[in-house]
Amino acid sequence: ELNLLYGVVIGYLLGSIPGALFIGKVFYHTDIREYGSGNLGGSNAGRVLGKKAAIAVIAIDIGKVVLAVALCSLFDQEASIWAGLAAAFGHCYPLFANFKGGKAVATMFGFLLSTSIFTFRDGLFVIVPLVVFLIVLYLGKMVSLASIFASLTSTLYIAIAQDNLSITIASCLLTVLIIYRHRANIGRIANGTENKVSWL
Ligand code: G3P
Repeated sequence: ELNLLYGVVIGYLLGSIPGALFIGKVFYHTDIREYGSGNLGGSNAGRVLGKKAAIAVIAIDIGKVVLAVALCSLFDQEASIWAGLAAAFGHCYPLFANFKGGKAVATMFGFLLSTSIFTFRDGLFVIVPLVVFLIVLYLGKMVSLASIFASLTSTLYIAIAQDNLSITIASCLLTVLIIYRHRANIGRIANGTENKVSWL
């Protein structure tokens, strides 16, 4: 269907906007791909550039997914779900940054937030994984571990609470993408060398 195709293209293009590269280069004259974990995401922006940069990057990365889902939900709800997933994929493999992007954590949050607002009207979409994220972060001090648990929780919650097949499949694929993008982190968690946040 044509709407789905438009949705996926719009999502992919918006998701491809690399918030971390933009904030780093424009405001700090730094390419954060060369520092820290090298990841184009909020955690690495915080690690390399500080808290303000992290907040700005996370806001951009959430905002671009919300925009994609909001735009597409104006004409087709089904398309908006796939637009959100395509945006997360674009974030990981961005057209505008040599296909090397982030790990889809802030974008997952944007996906859950926007689909819960525009389509499913279920605030627990966001709240349940967010609470799990905060608890695991507090206990383990690792953003990566908290992100993996939160993504698994969101899929589990959606599978249990929603009988819509599209959102269940999309969130499942998103979780697979997130875990795959964290494969280096998983190796470091396993051997005890993963970065821990200093502020908790
Ligand atoms: O922001 C993604 C996070 O889960 C891990 O990022 O830079 O610690 O590999 P990083």
